[in-house]
Amino acid sequence: MLVQAHRGFSGKYPENTLLSFQKAIEADADLIEFDIHLSQDEEVFVIHDQEVDRTTDGEGKVRELKSGELKELDAGSWFKDEFAGEKIPTLKETLQLLQGEAVASIEIKTEASGCSNWRSTLKKASEVIDDFNMWDEVIFISFDLHALLAVTNIKQEAYTALIDYRPGEKIHLMEVLLTAWVDGWFAPHNILNPRLVEEAHRRGLEIISSGGKELENIEEEVNKLLQLGVDGVSTDYPDYACELIENYE
Ligand code: G3P
Ligand code: CA
Repeated sequence: MLVQAHRGFSGKYPENTLLSFQKAIEADADLIEFDIHLSQDEEVFVIHDQEVDRTTDGEGKVRELKSGELKELDAGSWFKDEFAGEKIPTLKETLQLLQGEAVASIEIKTEASGCSNWRSTLKKASEVIDDFNMWDEVIFISFDLHALLAVTNIKQEAYTALIDYRPGEKIHLMEVLLTAWVDGWFAPHNILNPRLVEEAHRRGLEIISSGGKELENIEEEVNKLLQLGVDGVSTDYPDYACELIENYE
C-alpha cells in the first residue's frame, strides 16, 4: 500500500514547506500531496489556502501578492517557533526536491474553494511540469471533475484522481464508478467495504483513502485499509503509516 504525505509531513512540520516535503521523503512516503496558487506575477506557489494569513506572518490573497512579497513571508513560525524562516515554496522548488524521490500529488482547488483562477494556475503548473519533464512523476487530484478534465485536456496521459472526502457533503461514488477516464478515487475510509473496493478495482480505479489524520486513529485506519486491499493511504504522519505497513502481517 502506498503512502501519501498530506501537505508533506504535516503532522510534525509546517504544511506545504520544503522542510515538510524533505521530511516526508525521509519518512519514505511514495507520494507528497500539496496545493497550488498563482501569484500576481503568475508564479505557481505551493500553499493550501488562497490567503496567506493562516500559514504565514503576512496577509492577503496569494493572487494579489508578487513573488518577491510571498518569498519574504515566514511560513514556519505559525506552526512552531523552531520552524521560523521556512518559506512558501514555488512549484519549481518543490518539483526540484521531489524529482526522483517521490511522486508529486498536486491538488487543484476550484470555484467551490473560492479559486476562480484555477484554469490559469493549472496552465502555469503544466508548463513547469513540462520544463522539468516530470509528467510521469506527478498526479493531479481534485474535488472537482472539471479540473481533472482540464488536466487531461492539457495532457491526455496525466494521472488524475477525484477526491471524495469532503465531510458533510455527498460522496461522488456513482460519478466516480461511472467515470471511466479518471485513474484514482480518493475515498473516505469510513465508507469502504470489500465489495466496493472490488467493484472500484474491477473498473480500473485505484483507491487512495483518507486515514491517518489524527495520530490516535492511524493504527486502526491503516490496518483496516490494508485488510481491504486499497492502493494507498493519505496521512499527516507518513513515518507511522510506513511503519504500520511494514509490520503488517
Ligand atoms: O488529499 C486530499 C486533501 O488534500 C484534501 O483536503 O483540505 O487538505 O486540501 P485539503
Ligand atoms: Ca490538499
